[in-house]
Amino acid sequence: MKRDLLGLAELGRDGIVAILDLARELAPHATEGRRKRVDLAGRTVANLFFEASTRTRISFGLAARRLGADVIDYTASAGSTQKGETLVDTARNIEAMGVDVVVCRHAYAGAPHLLARRLRASVVNAGDGAHEHPTQGLLDAYTVREALGRVEGVRIALIGDIIHSRVARSALRVFRALGGHVTLIGPPTLVPRTFEKLGAAVSWDLDEVLPEQDVVVALRIQHERQDAGLIPSVREFARLYGIDARRLERMKPSCAIMHPGPVMRGVEVTSDVADSPRSLVLRQTTNGVAVRMAVLKWVLGPEGQGRG
Ligand code: NCD
Repeated sequence: MKRDLLGLAELGRDGIVAILDLARELAPHATEGRRKRVDLAGRTVANLFFEASTRTRISFGLAARRLGADVIDYTASAGSTQKGETLVDTARNIEAMGVDVVVCRHAYAGAPHLLARRLRASVVNAGDGAHEHPTQGLLDAYTVREALGRVEGVRIALIGDIIHSRVARSALRVFRALGGHVTLIGPPTLVPRTFEKLGAAVSWDLDEVLPEQDVVVALRIQHERQDAGLIPSVREFARLYGIDARRLERMKPSCAIMHPGPVMRGVEVTSDVADSPRSLVLRQTTNGVAVRMAVLKWVLGPEGQGRG
């Protein structure tokens, strides 16, 4: 049986812990090209990105190379889907050249699941619409573990455009699975009460809940996934839900600031907050390489033979 990573809902606590532990083991090899490994020598990883990406795509490429794999990059804007080819046809043709893992980012929720059914290669979801972004959730949990020593019992606030955010859905799943307390914060139009069913607290008042938090994760407004009208204006959003120096003062002195990037300076966080010593934004990016190495090894590990 091949192994895919499509979402954290399917992975469960044990799978999450196994990948985080493996990432910790691989971390010394993640950011130093000279300490490259050969675990995936002879394997090929294809990055199929149908939406914009910087951190995710580059870190999957580096992760694969630092495990000794070959990497191919497909960028939708320069490929045959532009000419009308279907997603499955594009992916099957790339697979036909000898690919073991397909990493897929797509604007449609469920696109990687469709590929997982149609390909022999293992499929890793690198973000599908507003649904899941499992490797981001894993690297967020890794970063909290690294900074605070644990996730269990930690109070984590996810702030902003929750309803359109795959990062929020994966983060909520990973933090809940590891025993964290998650509060979702933003305007009612972006943070409906229905999220309580997933085990999160919901608050529309940032200043009320901010002083209790151990970690805050600020999220970008997903303009590409919403019609205008859900917030009065970006400036209004920043005033009510942006983290600035004044709010930083009211937070626990140890409270860490996280953001998956790209950061819209002056909207979710001001520049001084983004660059403050309490910001873990660049640690998240660094940790993304080790976590993606672990994910690639995990999908191709002894139980996940890929195409073999
Ligand atoms: C996020 C994404 O694409 O979902 N970025 C990322 O992968 N680090 C978040 C975003 O675009 O706001």
